[in-house]
Amino acid sequence: MTVRAISTLSIVGLLAAPVGRPVNAQTGPQAHWEQYKNQPATPQPDQHLTDPAIVGAIDLHAHHDPDSYPRELDGFDVAKLARDRGLRGVVLKNHWTETAGLAYLARKYATPGFEVFGAVTLDTAVGGVNPQAVRYMVDVVGHLGRIVWMPTHDSEHEVRYNKESRPFVSVSRGGKLLPEVNEVIALVAEHDLALATGHVEPEEALQILRAAKAAGVKRLIVTHPLLDPQFTYMSIEQLRAAADLGAFIEITGGGVIRGGEPSRRALAAIRALGARHFFVGSDAGLVGRENHTDTLVLAARALRAAGVSEADLTLMFKDTPAFLVNLPVRPSQSTAAGGTVWDGVFTEAQASRGEAAYGRSCAACHKEDLLGSATAPALAGEAFFRRWNESTVDDAVQTMKSSMPQDAPNSLEAQAYVDIVTYLLKASGSPTGSVELTADRDRLKLIRVTSAPSR
Ligand code: HEC
Repeated sequence: MTVRAISTLSIVGLLAAPVGRPVNAQTGPQAHWEQYKNQPATPQPDQHLTDPAIVGAIDLHAHHDPDSYPRELDGFDVAKLARDRGLRGVVLKNHWTETAGLAYLARKYATPGFEVFGAVTLDTAVGGVNPQAVRYMVDVVGHLGRIVWMPTHDSEHEVRYNKESRPFVSVSRGGKLLPEVNEVIALVAEHDLALATGHVEPEEALQILRAAKAAGVKRLIVTHPLLDPQFTYMSIEQLRAAADLGAFIEITGGGVIRGGEPSRRALAAIRALGARHFFVGSDAGLVGRENHTDTLVLAARALRAAGVSEADLTLMFKDTPAFLVNLPVRPSQSTAAGGTVWDGVFTEAQASRGEAAYGRSCAACHKEDLLGSATAPALAGEAFFRRWNESTVDDAVQTMKSSMPQDAPNSLEAQAYVDIVTYLLKASGSPTGSVELTADRDRLKLIRVTSAPSR
């Protein structure tokens, strides 16, 4: 063990260095963040954007202070922002230190009850691909570490790509994964964490995914492979190979909202492979850029405008991230004692029936897209929560039954009104569950409408 540990820790300075190239030469920067330290940037104000796609979402990629160069928000403020905009959770991401401890503090002092998680990235500051860094993250009080990133900014790929002369971390040599990579993979499997591929070569990423799958890792992430060649930059064929291994491909909000090549590549990849292989994280945090939730909202809008369906947005912003941090995909299936519309209180099939009934009896005035017309109000999203927040589902059903359709109130079956409400709920971001919501009024009275999952 001692021998292993020593060889692991020396990987950054010695083993990984190309022969004859002094990695500690005083000529170049010693650290990636050097260039960012004094970068002038004007903070960007909070735009307070909201969207049904982010209500119940989990941001798996939230940069924050404290960091080695200025960030827009600290970890507590990121957690508060995410909670206040209705997210279900957030993973604090730092390239150089573990964040499970910070997640513990955020839950204790900033956002009790909110799902804040930590992670570790195996860059130089934790000794590279260092199994001890993973063991430490796993054991930190609270046990909130969820993601292990392979090397990112200090990856051999990125340092070489940028032709820099600074310490880097290798994951393979001569086409084979290094032993410590397999050791980390085994730890990830043992603790049922998520493994993210970092900024390695595409072929290395695929090797890592294959080894991880073979070792029993269930939660696999390809770190933003659509963004820029400086990072892992994959072709559609490589993405397909990753998806076939069961990996989820990360799309960063920042990449989508600034348009251009990254956004074009992301859309092409979603169309080619299907949204079920992707998830969206903000990757926000840099001073001068949109904050985390604004980034997610703008990304959701851009994807929607490009034709991505609400169901696919739900997968990419909510369900897949929940799976990756090992939370139940739906907040709760147990609704016997009432609860809220965030507890999965109706089924997918029921919402589809509701959609059909809505199309027949309501869409003429409130429109197919639920946005309403000059006379009839919008019925979903923010409008839904503005009208029904703190009411019960029964209130909404009874109001609609007694007054709608405007030209023929109470002309539908009681169950059809309930189904229509489940459709409106689903369109507003509420999760589906495994049990149908019946027209039993005693039951309907127990289910509260809140604009975000309860905490
Ligand atoms: C003929 C046009 C028309 C049809 C069809 C129609 N609505 Fe409306 N609806 C309106 C108008 C106009 C309003 C605003 C005035 C009002 O509240 O009566 C409205 C208001 C509403 C409201 C807001 C009520 C409130 O108290 O805030 C809801 C909810 C609603 N409709 C649901 C439905 C549902 C569900 C259906 C289908 C079963 C439906 N509407 C069919 C025209 C229509």
